[in-house]
Amino acid sequence: MPEIQVFESPEALYTGAAEEIARSAEAATLQKGRFSIALSGGSTPRGVYERLAESQCEQSLPWKETHFFWGDERHVPPEHPESNFGIAWEALLSKVAVPSRNIHRIPAEVEDPLRAAKLYEDDLLQFFRYPPGGWPRFDLILLGVGTDGHTASLFPGTEALSVDDRSVAPNWVESLASWRITLTLPAINHAERVIVLAAGGEKAGILRKALREPGGETPLPIQRVRPLSEGLVWMVDREAGRGIL
Ligand code: 6PG
Repeated sequence: MPEIQVFESPEALYTGAAEEIARSAEAATLQKGRFSIALSGGSTPRGVYERLAESQCEQSLPWKETHFFWGDERHVPPEHPESNFGIAWEALLSKVAVPSRNIHRIPAEVEDPLRAAKLYEDDLLQFFRYPPGGWPRFDLILLGVGTDGHTASLFPGTEALSVDDRSVAPNWVESLASWRITLTLPAINHAERVIVLAAGGEKAGILRKALREPGGETPLPIQRVRPLSEGLVWMVDREAGRGIL
């Protein structure tokens, strides 16, 4: 069973997650002189990004040593309202002294989603310097979870779920009639630490399913997030946690 932290309110969740990120950043920077984090998309993490951007808060990060990546991206340009990069840029990255070379955006404006995925994977190879057949080792990956059990852009029944020889894959999501670019499960599961964020009563059902029901023959995508490091923690507010308390 993964570690589950339940917070009284969404605000307490955002602060708790920001503190956890700051702890990971401090440990990684002390150990290696840099910190690599893959941000999540969606609306839940916005509050965490805003908390991190509050320059006087004790959770501020070592910006010059912190490298920002994304777990997934919509197939849109960075200025598009649905861009995961755009959300993080507006809430955090435009407000802190992180060097532009430390921002590793998924080039989702590239027309061919396969080429966009390859370009992002080349960036990961360059940064993490892992050998062929190896995997990037993010210090921390932030994930959300959809009410259908998807995470990053790994949606139930989609092809990217079965990609086991690449760190990044394009993924056609029929239910959205759109392409996504996403980290694959092996890339996620080789991270040092993974935080799954969930807030709001609409997530209570999927948390109960994901954390209290066995995955069986076809586990939910979120149930397949099992870091080899065993560094998985769910950070949820009381409303979302209703399904598991
Ligand atoms: C995305 C995210 C996705 C998200 C979940 C939860 O690109 O949308 O990566 O996996 O985390 O859909 O989204 P909310 O936080 O908005 O509920």
